[in-house]
Formats: sequence, C-alpha cells, structure tokens
Amino acid sequence: MHVAIIMDGNGRWARERGLERVDGHREGAESVRACIEAAVEDKIDQLSLFAFSEENWGRPADEVGTLMKLMMKSIAEETENLLSHDVRFRVLGDLGKVPPLLRSAIATLEDVTSSCKGLQLNIFLSYSGRWDILQAAKRFAASEKEPESASAADFAKYLVTDGIPEPDLLIRTSGEQRISNFLLWQCAYTEFYFTPVLWPDFRKPEFREAVREFAHRHRRYGLVE
Ligand code: FPP
Repeated sequence: MHVAIIMDGNGRWARERGLERVDGHREGAESVRACIEAAVEDKIDQLSLFAFSEENWGRPADEVGTLMKLMMKSIAEETENLLSHDVRFRVLGDLGKVPPLLRSAIATLEDVTSSCKGLQLNIFLSYSGRWDILQAAKRFAASEKEPESASAADFAKYLVTDGIPEPDLLIRTSGEQRISNFLLWQCAYTEFYFTPVLWPDFRKPEFREAVREFAHRHRRYGLVE
C-alpha cells in the first residue's frame, strides 16, 4: 500500500499557541517521525510526504532556511534509525534549487539506504506536479522514438516517480480540501482523506484512523461492478 500525505497546518498550530511558525515546523517534524514509525510497524510499502513545494520557495527566507535546517537535522539524527528499520529513503523534486550541503546529505542517505527492503520513504522536496509533468514531457519529446504510439505508461516512465506505484491514499491535514500541485498525474485513482487535524497533532492514532477508513472504501477505477 502507498500512502501519500500533504502535511499542512504547522503555521496555524503555532499561531493558536502564540508561537512562531518555525515552532510549528519543529513540532511537525515529530509528526513526520511518528508517521514513519506507524508506517514501518503497519508494514506500509510506500510513504510519500510533501515536505516542500516549488511554491514554498516564495516564503520568507528565514522560514525557508529553518525548513532546510530541519531536514538536514532530521537526516543526521535519523540515519541509524532508518537503517535499523530497513527503510529506503528517497527524495524527489527539483533538487537543483536545494542548498548543496543538504543535497549531498540527501544523496548520501539515499545511497546508504538504497538496498533497504522495508518501507520506502519518498520525501517530495522542491516538487510540484506540473513541474514533474513538464520535465517528463520535455524528456519524453527528446527521447521517445515513436511518440504517436506511446501509452500513458510509456509517458509515466519519465516522471520522477518512475518505479513507484501510484498512491492508494492521499491524506491532507488541517481542513484544506485541495491537491495544491502535489502528485497530479499519479493521483488519477487515488482515494482522498481530509482531516481538520493540524499536522503537528497528526500522530500514530490519526495515521492509523486514516488507513482504517481507507480500508472501507470501494474502488472501481471507472469500471462497473
Ligand atoms: C505546512 O504547514 C508544512 C510545510 C510547508 C512543511 C512541512 C515540513 C515539516 C513538517 C518539517 C520537517 C520535514 C521533514 C521531512 C523532516 P504550513 O506552514 O503551510 O501551515 P499553515 O497552512 O497553517 O500556515
């Protein structure tokens, strides 16, 4: 099973408590850890987290800096933990924009976990669905010998998610009910789950409730019974 999450509401969580937005992100990082643990314990195959969108580069510089530092810190602190739980770590997005130190920490962690066989953790960083489709279209046009006869599956090989099955369930926290340029192509048949819970409050019980609710959904993929 593949679970994707749009982690939203860190800023509001902080504001409700009279704290800074960055405090919300720090607490949100604890929810990231909790959901990874739940996914490992419940034998989920793929967990995809929308950590930073292409649009997020437009946030104030100190907030962007804090988010990059938080990711750097999480990588440093969690490497052993991920390895001991057999988690394969991947980062997907337009990484050319990411600070070089973070980029090399990412590359190292991807490398050392590359043969892990448990949960695959996909962190989407500097990512947007339209960027992904556009970069795929450019590479498709440049490489495909017979584009006229190509199938959707042939095209999807150029998306950054090549080799990753499409999400079964997309969770969005904080009460917003939209996809915000996340996995546009990949969510064609994905079930959506919206919860008012703010991301820093979304922990193991909330993750498990979303998966439990999904188990009752009836998927038809556009077919009749
Ligand atoms: C959305 O809340 C959250 C983000 C843009 C960032 C998510 C990042 C983390 C949880 C930090 C750690 C990440 C990793 C992978 C270790 P928001 O700021 O949009 O909240 P708001 O809508 O209430 O303002």
